[in-house]
Amino acid sequence: MELKGKVALVTGASRGIGAEIALGYARAGAHVVLTSRDEERMQAVAEQIAAGGGSSSVFRLDVTEYAEVGRVVNRTVGELGRIDVLCNNAGVNFANGPVAEIPPERFANVFAVNTAGLYACCYAVLPHMIAQGYGRIVNVSSASAFMCQPGSAAYAGSKAAVNALTAVLAKEVREHDILVNAMSPGAVRTDMNPTADTHPVEAVPTAVWLAALPAEGPTGRFYRFMEELPMLPEHDRDFMSGPSGSR
Ligand SMILES: NC(=O)c1ccc[n+]([C@@H]2O[C@H](COP(=O)([O-])OP(=O)(O)OC[C@H]3O[C@@H](n4cnc5c(N)ncnc54)[C@H](OP(=O)(O)O)[C@@H]3O)[C@@H](O)[C@H]2O)c1
Repeated sequence: MELKGKVALVTGASRGIGAEIALGYARAGAHVVLTSRDEERMQAVAEQIAAGGGSSSVFRLDVTEYAEVGRVVNRTVGELGRIDVLCNNAGVNFANGPVAEIPPERFANVFAVNTAGLYACCYAVLPHMIAQGYGRIVNVSSASAFMCQPGSAAYAGSKAAVNALTAVLAKEVREHDILVNAMSPGAVRTDMNPTADTHPVEAVPTAVWLAALPAEGPTGRFYRFMEELPMLPEHDRDFMSGPSGSR
């Protein structure tokens, strides 16, 4: 089992992709710390983990309550002794529309969860991972980060920022055997994307692989179904005007 003996904290573990990743980490042998705002739904996931012979803890956590993030991480380390894996999965996508129509408050609310919430979780776990000389951080991002579809400024921007943060943090902590990667789960059927065809369980192998990377594994990269993706928007030369190479 790739994660035997590890402690793995998953944000947004109440449903959708986060619940499947939590179940996948438990099947891989980790003790999973389930976090989200919905304790009832997390208890149902915890029961599924127990039914499969795994173990988990449940902590209510809104990732935008930044002080609370630190308290939950400290409680995890206090009770379980360590934190090996952080899967930053919590995310929202509720401000779709043209920039001319989406007020800045809605834009900022998406960033508060997808980007600043993820940052807060990294900030809280890093002292523990650095002290123990080991950590794996898996940031659930999106191909929206480089697709730049009209109407997706808030969501795409928040995920492009996650990818940039992933690349920066990877360089900062490499010497401590902390590997930081981003992943796209693909377009999967969840409350966020109810018309997609793919089941969220399809995202699990990539999430487990990144959580269990050996010390010489990749860091600062972006994957979907274990294949590398571009981190950030590439020049759309058919669309962009101006001399090439201009800034
Ligand atoms: N579905 C797709 O096609 C797709 C594609 C690319 C990327 N993604 C990414 O995959 C991740 C999971 O998305 P999903 O499709 O599983 O969405 P979902 O079914 O809507 O689930 C979202 C999860 O995030 C949690 N969450 C939202 N706001 C939170 C907050 N403030 N604090 C803590 N948890 C919060 C929710 O938990 P509670 O409401 O219980 O707190 C829930 O567990 C997101 O980062 C999303 O951007 C999804």
